[in-house]
Amino acid sequence: MKITVQQGEIQKCSADALVVNLFSGVRPGGACGAVDKAIGGQITAAIDLGDFKGEVGETLLLYTQGTIPSPRVVVIGLGQAESFGVEQARMAAGTAIAALINSGAKTAATILHGTGGGRLPVEAAAQAVAEATLLAAYRFDHYRSNKRRTYPLKKISIIEFDPSKISQARRGKSRGCAIAEATCLARDLVNHPGSEVTPAYLARTARRVAKNQGLRCQILDDNGIKRLGMNALFAVGQGSANRPRFIALEHGPKTGAPLIFVGKGITFDSGGLSLKSVEGIRNMKTDMSGAAAVLGAMQAVAALQLKHRVVGLIAAAENMPSSTAFRPDDVLNTLAGKTIEILSTDAEGRLVLADALAYASRYRPCAVVDLATLTGACVTALGHHASGLFANDDDLADRLLTAGETTGERLWRLPLWPEYRRQIDSDIADMKNSGGRPGGASTAAALLAEFTDYPWAHLDIAGTAWSQNNKSYLPPGGVGLGVRLLTQLALDWSPKK
Ligand code: BES
Ligand code: MN
Ligand code: ZN
Repeated sequence: MKITVQQGEIQKCSADALVVNLFSGVRPGGACGAVDKAIGGQITAAIDLGDFKGEVGETLLLYTQGTIPSPRVVVIGLGQAESFGVEQARMAAGTAIAALINSGAKTAATILHGTGGGRLPVEAAAQAVAEATLLAAYRFDHYRSNKRRTYPLKKISIIEFDPSKISQARRGKSRGCAIAEATCLARDLVNHPGSEVTPAYLARTARRVAKNQGLRCQILDDNGIKRLGMNALFAVGQGSANRPRFIALEHGPKTGAPLIFVGKGITFDSGGLSLKSVEGIRNMKTDMSGAAAVLGAMQAVAALQLKHRVVGLIAAAENMPSSTAFRPDDVLNTLAGKTIEILSTDAEGRLVLADALAYASRYRPCAVVDLATLTGACVTALGHHASGLFANDDDLADRLLTAGETTGERLWRLPLWPEYRRQIDSDIADMKNSGGRPGGASTAAALLAEFTDYPWAHLDIAGTAWSQNNKSYLPPGGVGLGVRLLTQLALDWSPKK
């Protein structure tokens, strides 16, 4: 899909469909009013008949019958002007894409949602529309031999009437496209099955992204992981013929305290010898969603040419049962020198992250954010409507909460009290890898905290990494969750507080 920005009056554009919008409870004005007038008042007629109210998610498809160059008009409801923001602009753009795909239009021209009554800056609106357009149009059809389900929509022109706003619109559009492309990279990685996306596949993808974007890239194979002393990462991967990898990507200056992103990259989580149930094992290809987010964010940070140093670390392994697998009762010696007693080989994410977080310390980072599909307990606590946020630093937590509001990738802070740490006291080692059912998301975070000596936040994305079809711009499958959030955090980051 190609997105362009053009100056003009939308009613004069020749495309297969025009997209305009309407806030609830108002008469058509601006671009919508101009289109309405040009097509003989059809929009006003629909409003007067009570067929269209301008509410969120509402669409109206009209046929222009030769009155203007475009044969179709799609009107999108924006809801209340007072509660309009970038998330509503993304939702409107996503709703428009669904309507356009249904209509069979190949090309479309759209106005920017919310720059009038919604009072959004043009750059922010253009980013939101470009981003959500690409995100909503994404389909994962790699494994379909019959690609007829691939829709015809090919080109969207964003039309802005005011010539003085074109450069802002173009800037926003470029940023939105770069971020959406990085998100779709992450989605592909999540959507491909574990037979394809192995730790080595993640490493190859990292190398390719690094080459294309000018990132520095370092990869450790299983021997390198062992030699370095990342025994926890090694142990989780030791039951699988698909050997583990540790991936480091680096953007920006070679010195100075970096912002570090760390991703859990379990390419398939069978549970290991603590094997999951038939129900529980399904969709465990998604257990590398944190790693996918880190790869996507590193691509976006490079494409947007951010000035400061950003590092992405990925601990990739496949958790499988076999005669070489690690066992319950084993004691692992981590990179940090702390020991962990294994109660369940299914609590493997915290193990690979323990070594990755210890490795992060070597950079003397200004902050570290890890993302992991870590616990079913977090899904129980928050459902699919927010990721769990744990932090040892309030400023970092607040920055993440803000980025979450901006991007619509909402976070909810959960506690990291010392009581949770006591729950993972072991009789024979420094800690055990499961604290039982109560407070399962917090006891997992408490284990991670043992391996941090810098401002740190942990995002448990187990409930949010897979689309629940609850947003117009999130099609079924991997969300690519975290790419937009981390990129926003990096964009807002000022190295000096
Ligand atoms: N990858 C799972 C967590 C998960 C659950 C992700 C559901 C996505 C959806 C993780 O490795 C896991 O198995 N966690 C266990 C921990 C327990 C054994 C302490 C869990 O949450 O049950
Ligand atoms: Mn597991
Ligand atoms: Zn897992």
